[in-house]
Order: sequence, then C-alpha cells, then structure tokens
Amino acid sequence: MSLSIPKIALIDDYDITNKKVLVRVDFNSPIDPKTGEILDDHRIRGHTKTLKELIDKNNAVVVMSHQGRPGGSDFVSLSIHAKKVSELMGIEVQFIDDVIGPAARERIKNLKNGEILLLENTRIVSEEIIEATPEKQAKTFFVQKLAPLFDVFVLDAFSTAHRSQPSLVGFPMVLPSVGGRVLEAEIKALARIFRPDEKPIVFVLGGAKVEDSLKIIETLIRNGVADRILTTGLLSMIFLVAKGIYLGKENMRFLNEKGYTALIPRARRLLLMGAPVETPYDFGVLKNDKRIEEPATKVTGKIMDIGEKTINMYHEIMKEAKVIVLRGPAGVIEDPRFKKGTFEIAKRAIESGGFTIFGGGHFIAIANELDEGLRKKIGHISLAGGALLLFLSGERLPALEALEISAKKFIFGEK
Ligand code: 3PG
Repeated sequence: MSLSIPKIALIDDYDITNKKVLVRVDFNSPIDPKTGEILDDHRIRGHTKTLKELIDKNNAVVVMSHQGRPGGSDFVSLSIHAKKVSELMGIEVQFIDDVIGPAARERIKNLKNGEILLLENTRIVSEEIIEATPEKQAKTFFVQKLAPLFDVFVLDAFSTAHRSQPSLVGFPMVLPSVGGRVLEAEIKALARIFRPDEKPIVFVLGGAKVEDSLKIIETLIRNGVADRILTTGLLSMIFLVAKGIYLGKENMRFLNEKGYTALIPRARRLLLMGAPVETPYDFGVLKNDKRIEEPATKVTGKIMDIGEKTINMYHEIMKEAKVIVLRGPAGVIEDPRFKKGTFEIAKRAIESGGFTIFGGGHFIAIANELDEGLRKKIGHISLAGGALLLFLSGERLPALEALEISAKKFIFGEK
C-alpha cells in the first residue's frame, strides 16, 4: 500500500496575481482558558508564508479559519488571531466579526489589492458544523453568499482536510482552487518520508479528541497500517474500562458525565477484533494536591498523566519500531506536574532510533522544549493531528478530494 496522493493543483499551477482570493487556513490554536491568549502560534506562523506570497502578488486576500468547537472554552473570536498575523507579517490585517453576512460581503467587495482581511470564526455559521458531500456543501448559504465575490480559492488547511465542511469542500466545487504552501509542504514531506511497508509502525495516541482517535484507530486497523498502538490520556482510560478495569469513583464519574462511556462498546469491539492496542500499566494521579503514581488496576486519585512504568514499557515497544507517529498529549500538560508523560514519550521516541513523526499542536509545543540536539533528530513535525493520521492510514481526505475535482474542472481539464 502507498499513500494516496490526490492530483490537486498548487499555487504554481495557476496564475494568482491581481485577483480576489479566498484562503482557508487552520488558525485553530490552544487558547489559555484564563487569559484568552493564544498559547502556541505555530499554525498561524506556518500560514503566513502563503498569505505573504499572495499579498506580494498584489491580490486582495480574504482569510477564513475555525477556532475550537461551539461550546468549548477555545471557541473564541479570531480578533486575537488578526493581531497575531499582523505582528508576524508586519502589515495591517483587517478583521470583521462576521463571516457571510452583509457586513462581511461589503468589506470583501471593497477590499483592495495588497490588503488582507480576516473573517470571524467560521464555526459561528451553523452550516459549518455539518459534514456533507462537496456537492451539497456547494449549495449552502455559506458558499453561495461568498463564492461570487472571489476569483480563486486557496486551501492551506491540511490539518482540517479530514472535515467535509462548507469552508473546506464547498468552494472548490464552484471556484478554481489550489492547495497553499502549508498544504503542499505537508503532503510532499509525508509522501517522501512515510513508507507504510516499512515496519513495524507504532502509533502513540492521546489527547482529548477521543471519538476522532477511535475513528483513526478503526481506520489504521482496517488498512493494516499500525503494528502497535500505544494509548495514553483519556483514550487509554476508555480502553481500560473496555477491558473491564475499574478506574476509581472520580474517574468513572468524569467519564460518565462527559459522555465518554458511550464510546466504550466501540473500544471493546476493537479489542475483540484483536487490535494491537496497548494500555497504560500505571498513571500519574492527583491526590491530596500531589502527584503520585498508581497502578491502573488500583487507581484512587484523579488520572492526570501516564505513570513511570508505562513510560518505560512504551519505550521498550518504541525501540523495536522503524516508524513512530505521535499525536495528542499523554496527560494534562498545562499543569507542570503532569507534563512528564508526554515529554518523556517524545524524548524516548526520538532516542528509540525509529523515524519519528510528531503531529498536532501539543507535540509541536513539546518539540520546542526539547534540547536542540534531540529536536534535530525528529523526522517530521506536522501542523496536523487527526488529518495527518487519517492521511497516513491511507484514507482519502474530503478536502483534498474536493481540490482534485476542482483541478479537473477548472485548471487541468478532464484528462
Ligand atoms: C485540528 O486541530 O485537528 C483541526 O484544527 C481540526 O479541528 P476539529 O477537530 O475541531 O475539526
């Protein structure tokens, strides 16, 4: 099996000068729930390359992105992102707290070449939350209201390419569309370095997006890509409960209250199918305001990290791997006492000697805290998390498929 690289058009394949350009980026970044500040700006930095090039080519550039999900503490206005992009690019980035309404459309119409405007968080538009086929999304108000104002669409959000939402898959159906520089760099790097037949491949999966992670594991197993999956964080708790382990009153209540127990049958099914999923032997828990280590079978405190024995056990497995893909923190890394698991896993993955691919915001942040020498040994740091894993598992990502259709329709022609 090889990675399926869609035949999409890139910036160099289309004349994008003196045009009105709509660019979909992924500015989605961790936000400090107390101060509302952007905690890590790697994704934003990454996209400035594409934006700068479009401005240098005298285009009028309108940028859109999501941030968080409705209901989450990181579901915030993009006004802070506009300030950040202005700082990083050294030019004024205009902002409007509207996406498709008359105010936004008027500003877009009046935007001059060489100017850049950031729209509000795309997910304030209810249509953006619904996933559907590109053909359906092209008919949404979202796409119908905005598309007529533009000459070309640039998709730079590789990290959101696994979502089939209007801002990602709808515009390519009705506008000539190309992949931006971030998307291009990710696809080219991954196609060059990732060999699914170079085995064993070990995945280390954690983080808060448990439902996404289960889908990813299902796909990795179905496509025969993963040899071992080392689970951490919330995901590992779901698998432990699926194995029949009781994780203590406080953690069980937490899983219940957040609705995670509904995912247990899916985890159990994977285990029954013989999926090579490993779970932690122990955890770093919070008890009497201190970190202590407790075996997974005798947890009494609040689970906040994987434990030391688990770190060692996972290290042994990683030593056998040719390729190690890491995504999602192993614990609550915002609290320094519970950063150890994620930090050690990152460090030991690199020391294991396999080719390492770091994915997602938290691992980028951890990579930055490693010694220069270790950091240099990381095989590839991707700005993407879920999209990266689905891409590596051989899945076709909806937004890339939409770009492929667009390239055929508007740029390369039906060949
Ligand atoms: C990500 O961080 O993986 C992307 O920005 C997609 O975000 P989502 O999982 O909320 O769609």
